[in-house]
Amino acid sequence: MRLPRIVIERCQYLARCTEEPGAITRPFASEAMRCAHERVGEWMSEAGMTVRRDNVGNLRGRYEGTADATLLLGSHLDSVRDAGKYDGPLGVIIAIAAVQILLDSGRRMPFAIEVLAFADEEGLRFGSTYLGSRAVCGSFDALDLDRTDSGGITMREAIRAFGGDPDGIDEDRWRGGSLLGYVEAHIEQGPALEARGLPVGVVTGIAGQDRHMLTFTGEAGHAGTVPMDRRRDALVAAANFVEAVAGYAEGHLGLVATVGHLTVRPGATNVIPGEVTLSLDVRHADDSERLLASKRLLEIAAEIGNHRHIAVEASHVTDNAATPCSPRLTALLVRAIEDLDHPVVELASGAGHDAVAMSALTDVAMLFVRCKGGVSHNPAESVTTEDVAVAIDVVSRFLELLAEQ
Ligand code: GLV
Ligand code: MN
Ligand code: MN
Repeated sequence: MRLPRIVIERCQYLARCTEEPGAITRPFASEAMRCAHERVGEWMSEAGMTVRRDNVGNLRGRYEGTADATLLLGSHLDSVRDAGKYDGPLGVIIAIAAVQILLDSGRRMPFAIEVLAFADEEGLRFGSTYLGSRAVCGSFDALDLDRTDSGGITMREAIRAFGGDPDGIDEDRWRGGSLLGYVEAHIEQGPALEARGLPVGVVTGIAGQDRHMLTFTGEAGHAGTVPMDRRRDALVAAANFVEAVAGYAEGHLGLVATVGHLTVRPGATNVIPGEVTLSLDVRHADDSERLLASKRLLEIAAEIGNHRHIAVEASHVTDNAATPCSPRLTALLVRAIEDLDHPVVELASGAGHDAVAMSALTDVAMLFVRCKGGVSHNPAESVTTEDVAVAIDVVSRFLELLAEQ
């Protein structure tokens, strides 16, 4: 249990790399991320990897093999606001542990292993998703560089301040020759494994998602003097919309839709809200169902706006199609789990992962690790040392099976 315990301790250590004392908040290109890079870079070096940081801010560790092809392993180091310890870091640190096992036994595989610790999966700082993995795939959108964070800093400035060259992101794209695939271990973020009493599961595919920003513009005014029938309260319209989103998703099987962030301006007790900006996140395993739902929800926003004399503007932030995992790599993960005498369960992922972006570059597969109560995006995220031990063994066995092919 030495290595699994180290993995847990490392996840706990990274919790100290945060921009909010007492909580875990580690955005893209932040000082908190720099702190995480220092430690993760050391752990990669200790595991025999050469380490470099690319322009967008991914940390990359490479363990050479005896032949040219490369297998990519990894996950992300950024977090949501007030996050748990394991969403993202666990996959990176399990990957490093699997390489450490090879180093300790003096082994090289017939392929190189590159561990990718991605810079931005959650999109906390700029509302974007998969900035790091998109850069590796060559699908980074340069228009994103003009996005601003809540403090008015552009992504371009943030990347430069972190030490990268925003105009050199194209150099981050994979140029290392033939790829065998990308494999990501991640906490399940749902309750299925716990309900079945299983430590790990294999992922069949990842649900599609789109994200939007909506601005409701009314008129600010005096909370004590403007009569109720003369108001154009942007927050009342936004609240109607939040309720409509939940009601719509509750009525459509397989659909989940969330308003997770609101900004109310001017934001004072005695001022009628003049403007509300809110986020909308829509997901479904079936892309056509999802796109239909997003279209209808935006229409509903416009209808609410008309009814309340509030202008509504919507902008599309991201759109990711549902991503199937590779049958070839998934079959190897299944065999690895069977070889270790664990029952195999296949699961779909409702959460997004870097594997979505990576699927544009190479075959992808994912291993889920049971997490307590299925809780994630919450400080209560928890995994057991025993389950982490199984996950490390499965990844190690997977490497053996891949080497035999
Ligand atoms: C990432 O965690 C997402 O699914 O939003
Ligand atoms: Mn997450
Ligand atoms: Mn994640």
